[in-house]
Amino acid sequence: METRETKILPTDSPKALKDACRLAIDQLLDGQAVVLPTETVYGLAAAALRPEAVAKIYEIKDRPSFDPLIVHLPSKTTRHWLDELTHVDEALKKSVARLIQHFWPGPLTLLLPKSERVPDIVTAGLPEVALRCSAHPIFSKVVDEFDSPLAAPSANLFGRISPTSAPSAEKELSGRVELILDGGASSHGLESTIIRLLPPEREGGKERAQILRPGPITPEALKKFVKVILPSEKNGTDAPEVPGQLDSHYAPSTPLTLCHNPEDLSFIEGKRYGLLSFRGEGKGSLVEAHPWAKVEVLSPGKGKLPEAAVRFFHLLRDLDEADLDAIVAEALPMRGLGLAMMDRLKRAAGPAI
Ligand code: TXA
Ligand code: MG
Repeated sequence: METRETKILPTDSPKALKDACRLAIDQLLDGQAVVLPTETVYGLAAAALRPEAVAKIYEIKDRPSFDPLIVHLPSKTTRHWLDELTHVDEALKKSVARLIQHFWPGPLTLLLPKSERVPDIVTAGLPEVALRCSAHPIFSKVVDEFDSPLAAPSANLFGRISPTSAPSAEKELSGRVELILDGGASSHGLESTIIRLLPPEREGGKERAQILRPGPITPEALKKFVKVILPSEKNGTDAPEVPGQLDSHYAPSTPLTLCHNPEDLSFIEGKRYGLLSFRGEGKGSLVEAHPWAKVEVLSPGKGKLPEAAVRFFHLLRDLDEADLDAIVAEALPMRGLGLAMMDRLKRAAGPAI
């Protein structure tokens, strides 16, 4: 792949924002991929309906061709594009409408049967397309002005930590993309929740949402609209899971171990260990368990899951850059956003130390 000079464009004045969006749109029209901020993580976006532009995303990320991409719809013409790109079963149309009404724009991705308009390269040949509508003002400005859907995976090399800021995206893709629009830190910090809608189990029952990737829209929030099937539960069908939810993913270069019980830890003399702690010192904390070379705390004192989520990938990246022999991550509460972070930690983790 040819090397490019990567520019980070500021967006912190009306003129800077306008110029940055213009340049991004020019690149997209030219069939190139650009890095844009979203409210979840930074995305590597290209024209979703142009296979040769989508191919660039796979090339830039070193992403295997079996791993499909999420399509981001313009926020002003969402309904139009939903009709164009999907064939939704009559029985599920109402639920789709209600979920979209409530959660879009926002961090919810819906897997729906695709129409012929969606190039096969986008879905890696799968029969469903993943759709979302970003609530980030910069992303929505670009996609609305571009006026056509954008395919955008997280802006990291395949299998690595998702970037939640422009400098993190630069570390991942420097020399591979021309433009990174700097929209500051992503406000959720974790990738969107992905669900597949399924018809009710029995007549008169509620439609079901199978959570394929836990994220900022929690099972608790979805429960108001649909019956929720958690990632751990079987859905009673043999439908494939999300291909990108591989067992090894979101991985730092430093070995990471997920610790449920301090007694399971064994340290090798002379090695440097770092800790990713939930709330810092206090009951159940691992802070006192070892003279750590580095400690990062997700939500000091209070242990608030939304705060932890925003800082999660950023702190993981800091630990990864601290020249450690291993990172130990404390297990997080298995509720709300804790589910999403534990999902990422399990995939980032190797064997126990
Ligand atoms: O928050 C997000 O969703 C971010 C921002 C940039 O929008 N995007 C993101 O994309 O996380 P990515 O590619 O890193 O993760 C998308 C996941 C992958 O695990 C992929 O396998 C799955 O969604 N996926 C995408 N399209 C699919 C499809 N048609 N069928 C099944 N799984 C799909
Ligand atoms: Mg990703």
